[in-house]
Amino acid sequence: MITPTPLMQLVAGVWGFKTLAVGVEFGLFTRLAGGRTITVTEAAAEFGMDERPADLLLAASASLGLLEKSGAGYRNSELAEQFLVEGRPYYFGAQVRYSDLHTYLPWHRIGEALRDNRPLTWDPQQQSMFDTTDPKLVAEFWDAMFSTSRFTARALAEAYDFGAHRRLLDVGGGAGAFPIELCQRLPQLQATILDLPHVCARAEERIAEAGLTDRVGAVAGDFLADPALPDGHDVILLSMILHDWDEATNRALLARCHSALPSGGAIVISELLLNDERTGPPEAALMGMNMLVETEGGKNYSGTEYVTWLGDAGFVDARVVAFDAPGANGAVVARRP
Ligand SMILES: C[S@@+](CC[C@H](N)C(=O)[O-])C[C@H]1O[C@@H](n2cnc3c(N)ncnc32)[C@H](O)[C@@H]1O
Repeated sequence: MITPTPLMQLVAGVWGFKTLAVGVEFGLFTRLAGGRTITVTEAAAEFGMDERPADLLLAASASLGLLEKSGAGYRNSELAEQFLVEGRPYYFGAQVRYSDLHTYLPWHRIGEALRDNRPLTWDPQQQSMFDTTDPKLVAEFWDAMFSTSRFTARALAEAYDFGAHRRLLDVGGGAGAFPIELCQRLPQLQATILDLPHVCARAEERIAEAGLTDRVGAVAGDFLADPALPDGHDVILLSMILHDWDEATNRALLARCHSALPSGGAIVISELLLNDERTGPPEAALMGMNMLVETEGGKNYSGTEYVTWLGDAGFVDARVVAFDAPGANGAVVARRP
């Protein structure tokens, strides 16, 4: 018998997200790092709340797989211990915080975006959402990207062998999650991040923290407007770049990548790929909706669309490599003949 229960689960999706977000906001998972347990009474005292809300928060967090319970005590699940404790290498809380602060309320007006085909999270008078120099937003957005992409980079490195490459150009590399993860894994690799000037400053801080200033550099530039992309690299990465733009912009950018690579050079497009039927998976289709909220022409594309555009730009041997990560479910890789 078909029931409306799946619909109630969708309704509760908002409640689940907000439960996660408030746990991150209160530092719940960071406080429980390293196996510490907390009872309802202790949580009420520690967070300055009554026992009723403390009981509800801990129970809901456990129901979502964020906490586990033994006896009267709650502790971090493995998921929270690895990804929601601040300071851990694959900390995901910055994405939770950014989404909570900057996309959650705009999503409330999604009907407006559907009717007007305009973004909701930034002023459309600006050239693009990336132009902001507000230091708080720079920190929050690019830290969110970093916390999504650090694990994505690890999954990509396990699915695609970068062993033959020596010099990586990360186009729109943000704060540097991919170059940092890849250079830590691959001693032969050096990397350049190409991004807007205010983002390069954030990347340089992250590169220095990782002790990689001798192998990773950040170059300020505009990948749409500069005469050419920097050359001297044998692999180009585009992670969560092409979903920000329309097809014509993406085809032009792929042509510039082709020109910047030597013969035999590789291109790697890391994205949440839509299936060919355009029915899912939900993380790709919903990221597409998020691109409606956050960009002016962006959407999530299928692997086949990228393969076609790559072929038209002159690349060969295009193929999709599947993996499982928050920022991508696969990469489309190809090479310049
Ligand atoms: C969605 S973020 C992806 C960041 C990174 N690749 C990752 O996956 O974590 C898009 C990036 O493209 C950069 N960007 C946008 N327009 C750009 C332009 N015209 N030139 C250079 N970088 C740009 C933004 O500053 C931002 O860092």
